Amino acid sequence: MPATIIVGAQWGDEGKGKATDLLADSTDLVVRYQGGNNAGHTVIVGDDVFKLHLIPSGILYPHVTPVIADGVVIDPKVLLEELDGLEPKGLEPFDRIKVSGNAHLIMPYHRELDMLIERRLGKAKLGTTKRGIGPAYADKASRVGLRFQDLFDEKIFRQKLDAALDHKNELLSKVYNRLPMDADEIAEEYLGYAQRLAPLHAETSGLIHESLEAGRHIIMEGAQGTLLDLDHGTYPFVTSSNPVAGGALTGAGLGPRHIDRVIGITKAYVTRVGTGPFPTELFDEVGDRMTDVGGEYGTTTGRRRRVGWFDAVLARYANRVNGFTDIFLTKLDVLSEFDTLKVATGYRYEGEVYEHFPPHQSIFHHAEPVYEEVPGWTGDITEVDDYDDLPREARDYVDLLEDLCNAPITWVSVGPKRSQTLVRRDVPLVP
Ligand code: GDP
Ligand code: IMO
Ligand code: MG
Repeated sequence: MPATIIVGAQWGDEGKGKATDLLADSTDLVVRYQGGNNAGHTVIVGDDVFKLHLIPSGILYPHVTPVIADGVVIDPKVLLEELDGLEPKGLEPFDRIKVSGNAHLIMPYHRELDMLIERRLGKAKLGTTKRGIGPAYADKASRVGLRFQDLFDEKIFRQKLDAALDHKNELLSKVYNRLPMDADEIAEEYLGYAQRLAPLHAETSGLIHESLEAGRHIIMEGAQGTLLDLDHGTYPFVTSSNPVAGGALTGAGLGPRHIDRVIGITKAYVTRVGTGPFPTELFDEVGDRMTDVGGEYGTTTGRRRRVGWFDAVLARYANRVNGFTDIFLTKLDVLSEFDTLKVATGYRYEGEVYEHFPPHQSIFHHAEPVYEEVPGWTGDITEVDDYDDLPREARDYVDLLEDLCNAPITWVSVGPKRSQTLVRRDVPLVP
């Protein structure tokens, strides 16, 4: 049975949690392949609201095995808090979730450095989530990281911690004028988590392969989004991992021949948290209304999200780097009651029009969007349960986005709940 990748097509918060939860009904494994607790995935089922940071959004179905794969960075305290939060809901997270031993650990000095680096950047800061993500991935690349499996070998944990801390304490005290950190304290805290986390430790790549061989279906759930990708995003205003579809393969330990669907999740407009360029950003009352109606405040940090019109240049680019087989369009309901909707079809810079992502970041930073204007629709669409019953202007808007993105829009979401999803093309996830 093939696997499906769910990937954010924009700057994160596209509704990956909702889409994964909805589609996980017909799957057996849901695998988080990158990122850490910088992610915040909201899943609403009935009256229950779940805000997931590390745990895959498949957790709500008892038949699903949620997997945290090799490419994720884990803050063990946050993981335990999240597990403990789900326990009273009867979801038995400790018995079900599997965590790769190769996933790297976020250490206290990573959180501290994330904060200090941002502070030192001053006006040029990225607006990170301050969860230690960048410094943890930097240590992984520098080969001085500690991994989830190290929690279960006290001697090795201590050796690696001492080696890492030797350098980190020089950095903290001499560059940033901070107090050094104490290895004993960190070891005591982290090894204290080990006993409760040990049952989760698994060889997840093996588990994924066994499942595929046994004919089970797998969803790979991305965090962040294409434009936050370390290699393909709006560098340096990105995260430190690879949310794109290719990242799912390295992050989970899987070859491309197993993938048959790549679903891009995209809002019907655009949002971004943190700093960095955003050509279609709105600074007027139209933007304020989008923020209010869309409830655009971060799931992880509570920060107000920046909002703007749909940007087809970015969508085409996301399609190119991920190879979408489908698009899951979210938050169409938020655009109800606007007289006119705008969609950026290109960028204008120094007399030239760019239909594709510009070759130099300076063009992107200073580009003026070229807009196509289309009529909006009136009336609430959150209760519509058949795609054909949407107002004509809403269907025309979806058709336009599909044409501009060059990828089929299969699902259209008109509210945060599972049930508020319209199927536009009947292509079942599991044949
Ligand atoms: P993720 O990080 O991609 O999982 O997205 P977030 O959960 O951070 O942000 C998406 C927000 O939009 C959440 O609060 C969802 O409950 C909400 N949401 C998802 N789909 C829809 C939709 O179609 N309409 C509305 N109004 N809200 C939605
Ligand atoms: P989900 O999975 C939106 C942004 C931060 C910042 C940049 C780098 O919920 O879509 P980091 O802490 O990763 O080093 O911050 O990336 N960012 C997100 N924005 N949604 C997310 O996750 C994000 N995770 C990180 O705001 O601009
Ligand atoms: Mg989010």
